[in-house]
Amino acid sequence: FFASVEMAPGDPILGLTETYLADSRPGKINLGVGIYVDEQGRIPLLPTVHEVEQALVAAGRPRGYLPIDGLPAYNQLTQQLLFGAESPLLAEGRVATAQTIGGSAALRVAADLLKQVAGTGARIAISNPSWGNHHAVFRTAGFELLQYRYYDPASHGLDFAGMLEDLGKLEPGTVVLLHACCHNPTGVDLDAAQWQQVIALLQERRLLPFIDMAYQGFDQGIEPDATAVRLLAASGSEAFVVANSYSKSFSLYGERVGALSMIGADRGEATRLLSKIKQTIRANYSSPSAHGASLVAGVLGSTELRARWEQELGEMRARIHAMRAGFVDKLAALGAPDFSFINKQAGMFSYSGLSEAQVRRLRDEYAIYALDSGRICVAALNRGNLDAVAAAVAAVSG
Ligand code: LMR
Repeated sequence: FFASVEMAPGDPILGLTETYLADSRPGKINLGVGIYVDEQGRIPLLPTVHEVEQALVAAGRPRGYLPIDGLPAYNQLTQQLLFGAESPLLAEGRVATAQTIGGSAALRVAADLLKQVAGTGARIAISNPSWGNHHAVFRTAGFELLQYRYYDPASHGLDFAGMLEDLGKLEPGTVVLLHACCHNPTGVDLDAAQWQQVIALLQERRLLPFIDMAYQGFDQGIEPDATAVRLLAASGSEAFVVANSYSKSFSLYGERVGALSMIGADRGEATRLLSKIKQTIRANYSSPSAHGASLVAGVLGSTELRARWEQELGEMRARIHAMRAGFVDKLAALGAPDFSFINKQAGMFSYSGLSEAQVRRLRDEYAIYALDSGRICVAALNRGNLDAVAAAVAAVSG
């Protein structure tokens, strides 16, 4: 039966972690995968999450199935976090939200559904570059993949003119995948004025905005990082899609907590969309799991815990900003080429500009793991490894 099955290539991100784990060199450092670690190099268990978890354990809950679209309180609180509690979209019942297995299942469920709607003409435009799994998810769902210019290697910033030009050429009906904030892999984001321009263009060209928001709170905070979603909501756009993840903002990676929100023109359309979302989920994995969503809902549903969680998130954010600054300073002190652009990039990642050959040297000679594209996870830097990383990067880039 399986004799003809060929070996699939390893995943560029999670496969790299496998190689890292198998590396026996002491002092190895993983700047590959997007995971925030604290000053001690550990994935934090946020105190607010721990508190809710202990209460859940003490309550000794039975383990029934969740509804197909997940925990109702979680979905409602997610809508409020994304759109703002006072959003007219929520009052008008235009948002269909379902809990999903991480942001990845939100992408996949939406992809399957949008493919059903668009049929053979399903096309999606993805930023160049983007998170590698975006391509895999939409290709597997049967989409034709297109890309739009985004990153400018010369400035280490945004190629905004190129982006507008490419979006302006897309055929009506094309889905446009946009990163809400903390762009993965580049760390290069649009400002509010640029978002306004992009949104106006998408409306004019009748393109469908699809926002992926995996890092809300990792750049400026919950509200400012939702700018793209808020501007879209206020723009009068009759349809758009948001996939969001709590992996990073709640440090709940392995619990796989995310959500899909599809915005329709009116309440009736949203109701029909939710029925289709549920049908798609049921045929894929039946229903999501309860634990992670209960933790998030427990925190977001309490005014006191939510305020403390925002502080915890703020501490993670501040540490990342400090690591960016420390890294840039150390590289400058070592006489390395100018890396000051790292201070301007947002979120967990930096597109370092290191070539594949330089990344390979980091891995082979220094046991420091980064993605072949040059993406490094600055959220994995700490005071204990900063000197070693800066010295190695200076050595390979000198
Ligand atoms: C990453 O980009 O490293 C993270 O989003 C983890 C993943 O699943 O790839």
